[in-house]
Amino acid sequence: MKNILTAKFLTDFAATASNMYRLGWDERNGGNISLMLDESELSGYLNLNKPVRTIPMGFSEPSLEGKLFLVTGTGKYFKNVEGDPETNLGVIRVGKTDAELLWGYKDGGRFTSELPAHLMSHAARLKADPAHRVIMHSHPTYTLAMTYVVPLTDKEFTRALWQMCTECIVVFPDGVGVLPWMLCGTNEIGEATAEKMASYRSVIWAQHGLYAAGKDLDETFGLLETVEKAAQIYMLTAPLKRLNTITDEQLEIIAKAFKVTYRKDFLK
Ligand code: 13P
Ligand code: ZN
Repeated sequence: MKNILTAKFLTDFAATASNMYRLGWDERNGGNISLMLDESELSGYLNLNKPVRTIPMGFSEPSLEGKLFLVTGTGKYFKNVEGDPETNLGVIRVGKTDAELLWGYKDGGRFTSELPAHLMSHAARLKADPAHRVIMHSHPTYTLAMTYVVPLTDKEFTRALWQMCTECIVVFPDGVGVLPWMLCGTNEIGEATAEKMASYRSVIWAQHGLYAAGKDLDETFGLLETVEKAAQIYMLTAPLKRLNTITDEQLEIIAKAFKVTYRKDFLK
């Protein structure tokens, strides 16, 4: 067997957690990441028929039964993932109401408390895009700040973000879905997030953070950082008298030039 600690999917995953930490988005145990893996990626590294133990999930996601995921552990700090992946991460196989742990959570730990939102969002995104693989949750500072000063509607939030950088409408033409404050770690917030994920790859949890979906770690990270960059510009300019903006007509010109299908009804 090869050493899983040398697998590219694992080193990329850990490096992503470090980047998110260094950007200040994932304080303490804030944030969680899950990456769907194919059996072929894991065979050679793990015996997939030898689970270490079983962990109850507290919900079921039938469309993902049998699927394999690399997932951050609950209560684990992103800053520690790269130094000790085997304690801070786990490889799980989703069952009916339990998950089999195949590797990791070495200290007896378990997957993130946000597994409902992750798996339900994976299921929703896979229906929309069969190439989908990654869900990332984070607490990016300026995105969070924006949820205190911008009305919590998909349309107003999306338009405010699109106006902040020319490339926003190209990177997330689908916009952002916005949820009101809800209790985190529950099946209810998982269901509400997945409902938004049916048509958005970015979902904002008011006064909490951001969920992003994508087909690989880089793309998902890039989506997160683009939303956060726009939010930063919004918050830096919010207290100032705004003299200029990207107009709706200019947003249309960008979308046309880059040939992206965007939510036209989000422009006035
Ligand atoms: P976990 O430590 O359970 O992953 O939770 C962190 C978090 O961000 C909750 O929303
Ligand atoms: Zn969180």
